[in-house]
Amino acid sequence: MCGIIGIVSDKQVESYLIDGLKRLEYRGYDSAGIATVNDHQIHRRRSAGKLGNLQALLQHEPIQGQIGIGHTRWATHGAANTENAHPHSSREVAVVHNGIIENFFDLKKQLQKKGHKFESDTDTEVIVHLITDYLHQGDQPLKAVQKTLTDLHGAFALAILFKDDPNTLIATRQGSPLVLGIKENELFVSSDAVAFAPWTQQVCYLEEGDLVVLSKEPKFNYVLYDRTGHKVERPLRRSQITGESVSKAEYSHYMLKEIFEQPTVLSDTLQSLLNFENQMITLKDVNIDWNTLDRIQIIACGTSYYAGLVAKYWFEKWAGIAVDVEIASEFRYRNPVLSPNSLSILISQSGETIDTLAALSLLKENEHQVLALVNVPESSIARKADHVLQTLAGPEIGVASTKAFTSQLMVLACLSLKIGRERGVIKPDTYDSLVQALVSLPGMISHVLQNSEDYQKLALSFTTARNCLYLGRGITYPIALEGALKLKEISYIHAEGYAAGELKHGPIALIDLTMPVVVLAPYDEWFEKTLSNLQEVIARGAQLLCLTDQKAAEKIKQQVKSVCQIEIVVLPFVDSFIEPILYTIPVQLLAYYIALLKGTDIDQPRNLAKSVTVE
Ligand code: M6R
Repeated sequence: MCGIIGIVSDKQVESYLIDGLKRLEYRGYDSAGIATVNDHQIHRRRSAGKLGNLQALLQHEPIQGQIGIGHTRWATHGAANTENAHPHSSREVAVVHNGIIENFFDLKKQLQKKGHKFESDTDTEVIVHLITDYLHQGDQPLKAVQKTLTDLHGAFALAILFKDDPNTLIATRQGSPLVLGIKENELFVSSDAVAFAPWTQQVCYLEEGDLVVLSKEPKFNYVLYDRTGHKVERPLRRSQITGESVSKAEYSHYMLKEIFEQPTVLSDTLQSLLNFENQMITLKDVNIDWNTLDRIQIIACGTSYYAGLVAKYWFEKWAGIAVDVEIASEFRYRNPVLSPNSLSILISQSGETIDTLAALSLLKENEHQVLALVNVPESSIARKADHVLQTLAGPEIGVASTKAFTSQLMVLACLSLKIGRERGVIKPDTYDSLVQALVSLPGMISHVLQNSEDYQKLALSFTTARNCLYLGRGITYPIALEGALKLKEISYIHAEGYAAGELKHGPIALIDLTMPVVVLAPYDEWFEKTLSNLQEVIARGAQLLCLTDQKAAEKIKQQVKSVCQIEIVVLPFVDSFIEPILYTIPVQLLAYYIALLKGTDIDQPRNLAKSVTVE
């Protein structure tokens, strides 16, 4: 969603702001803008659409200033046009804002009665007018912002500039993340350390309700205040995000780079959990008595939810524990009955997804034990959970989640074995062989990636399709859902994933010559039944793409008459335990190459945001 950058420097900041915003593009946006203070004036440039439009504007109308703020906006209140783009400003202040001001309508009416004139449809503009109003009443910038904060309801992060205080930038967070970057003669603030990664790794994460005053004089210092207005110190950390980790390298898209990073990040994630000498899985700082648990509920959104669906198969089979998987955006609308002996596992790549955070708050209100699985250890979800497990996927920039998903699966697979062993459900021999299967996975994935050109060819027959069906049975069913989600997100082809057994209960009515069907059909305990579904699809004239292994491929060739309707992709044969991870790779590659042929914006698909921080 929206991205914020603020810079206090001894150099001109215009191009810095644009560079920082480029690294925030992945969050998803539809307009952008920057503002600086120079010669006791606020200078502002904004543009609808992509950053290129703003850059073109700045070429003709550059702005000067060594202090500035920038923003990429994902429209909520008001259309994605220039008037609604941030920064919003009065003569005295300029503001960029992430999140939503829930009481903006009432505040706007009050301010209008006082004579304030509004120029946009946004909720943000009330913040500008409130601060301006307090400044007019004689408050200093810090006081004016603090008073404004008490007027606002909602979740937000802000960065603010002042015409009459050209050395000061104030930023604050309440429900939306904000991180400070510190360097000699330069200070940064952003919604994501990615924005300033090439310039500094020294960071400080603001806590909920914190406010920071960045000052150019004396000597580029900052002062932090907590939610009660008291000065406070927060720990400085070294960010793992470097300039290199956020570059596209030789790849045409972040998504492709991230697909190809999977052997490495899965190996890193496994190494962080597994002692290779004694095969033991250790969960650092996670102290849960697995034997007392009678139930696990997994709560997540989108792709992370699908990781939860896979985990249900693993936990029930290998750890002998009942699992419910919940969509986070619905969780709090029921009255969930929580067993005191149950554990909730919240899965979120970003750790900032608002619905997952809201579920977490509900769980904490009920004093329920929560384990978070995140890719960003400093994220809000990680901070609020009782226990945290981290995926070592590194920054994921492509909006469509790839390496974060398979890394989540790697952690969940390890967790199922760990719980199974502690509860005495899994036999030692089986445990060892499943650990070995996990160890072999990165190599298997590299093998699949070596044949990525196959998917470029296969993609050709999908480009004219308007609809597409993905089928899986057993543990590959959630991967059918994930494959369909990947395809619709980046190629805009309507796609649905179904459990193969559900085909006859409705979706079969859709099947005709124009609807390609992708079937995940490894030679596992469910294969014979999937083969029947495959026949049913063929009989109705559909084009079929079968993701399978050698043994299953032979069976398919023997038994299916109209093989001319089938494309078969042979993957390495693997234990069904690791099938969901391996079979994710082909569905990612397929979606990527179809989208590439369709010429869509793969890394920033229309309307989507990387971390969904508004409801
Ligand atoms: O950051 P999270 O894992 O909480 O995000 C959840 C979903 O928004 C996310 O997985 C979304 O579905 C992705 N765009 C999928 O590619």
